[in-house]
Amino acid sequence: MREYNTLDDFDLNGKTVFLRVDFNLPLDKETFEVLDTTRIERVLPTINELFENNAKTVILAHQGRKGSWDFINLEKHAKALEKLTGKKVKFVEDIYGEKAKNEIKNMKNGDIIILDNVRKIEYETDKKTAEEHAKTEFIRNLYPHGDIFVNDAFAAAHRAQCSLIGFTAVLPSAAGRLMEKEIFTLTKIIKNPEKPSIFLFGGAKFSDVIVTIERLLEQKTADKILLTGLPANAFLKSEGYDLGIKNEEALKKEGDEEQFKEIRNLMKKYNDEIYLPIDFAIKENNNRKEITSDELPTNQPLFDIGSKSTNKFKEILKDAKTIFLSGPCGVFEEDIFIKGTKEIFTFVGETDAFSIVGGGHTVAAVKKLGLESKISHISTGGGSLEKFMMGEKLPVIEALKKAKDKHLKKIV
Ligand code: 3PG
Ligand code: MG
Repeated sequence: MREYNTLDDFDLNGKTVFLRVDFNLPLDKETFEVLDTTRIERVLPTINELFENNAKTVILAHQGRKGSWDFINLEKHAKALEKLTGKKVKFVEDIYGEKAKNEIKNMKNGDIIILDNVRKIEYETDKKTAEEHAKTEFIRNLYPHGDIFVNDAFAAAHRAQCSLIGFTAVLPSAAGRLMEKEIFTLTKIIKNPEKPSIFLFGGAKFSDVIVTIERLLEQKTADKILLTGLPANAFLKSEGYDLGIKNEEALKKEGDEEQFKEIRNLMKKYNDEIYLPIDFAIKENNNRKEITSDELPTNQPLFDIGSKSTNKFKEILKDAKTIFLSGPCGVFEEDIFIKGTKEIFTFVGETDAFSIVGGGHTVAAVKKLGLESKISHISTGGGSLEKFMMGEKLPVIEALKKAKDKHLKKIV
């Protein structure tokens, strides 16, 4: 039995559904064109199901953050959705004013509209309970015009924000098909991963990774941790390696002595479980050159793991039954430094292990390598995925659980 409602629990025919999605997309900095529509594509099962069941679908979404360059309205998102569904999608430049309410009232069965960027609302990003959010003008103005709230925004599930949870206090609520799939698949992995379970971390950030690794090992979600990218550099530095001035500076931008101390403690405790690279690729005369850890320090940035590390990691990965990839192994955007990521990710795709990938850059690397069909589950989450893997409760999921079996009278 599910702990929350899904679309299966409702007769959708003729109902007005507020559908909260995560259409927070990467945009081109100059033209503002949408660079990747994965997050829209992944919500299509829900949108198509609502359409096929004659619901009226009112989409709520955010883009960027107030003050950020990519904080724009959702007209482009509506166009992209229209293209992907082949159905008319109307962008309404209002969220809860008269214009929005009239549009909703005049909708016919099967209509799809998308309201404006909910982060234009001053208090949207306040962190509050569903009940508190439900008292806002936003929720109070909109909810009487809807029958059901559906949340399919897994990538924002770690935010206790107004449009993400407020409706669950006042409307019958359900998880959308993407949310359901993400929760189901990831729960299986954290509660009962097939062993051995190996997590690989990479990418260009490391401070959040420290506590994630600790929890994963503590809770025995992961049996082994492989490190590449900046997380590997941070661990190597803590272990006493001198990486050279450029690499040390990159680490100092993000980390302080306290964090390096935490890493040392972690390494002491889990020395047998955490694996670090033993060689690296640097740039010399615009070519790739590999150096071993004995050849450190270098006055060049470490841009990729080297062949010895790749082989060592493959050897460890070959017995895995569950593999989680979080972050590319190097600067895969540059052709000469894609090698580590390419070899490891391709190898993972070829094993029989259940493989999971998440986070924007990791998914981008999987796409660039054409490996989408080889990975068992590609999560839309970044921050939400990380929190979920650590065993933290996510406000959106908690709100959906709390709303199960509530307010159902309203629609029967
Ligand atoms: C994301 O892309 O991380 C989600 O859409 C949440 O956005 P936020 O990190 O700006 O809250
Ligand atoms: Mg984020």
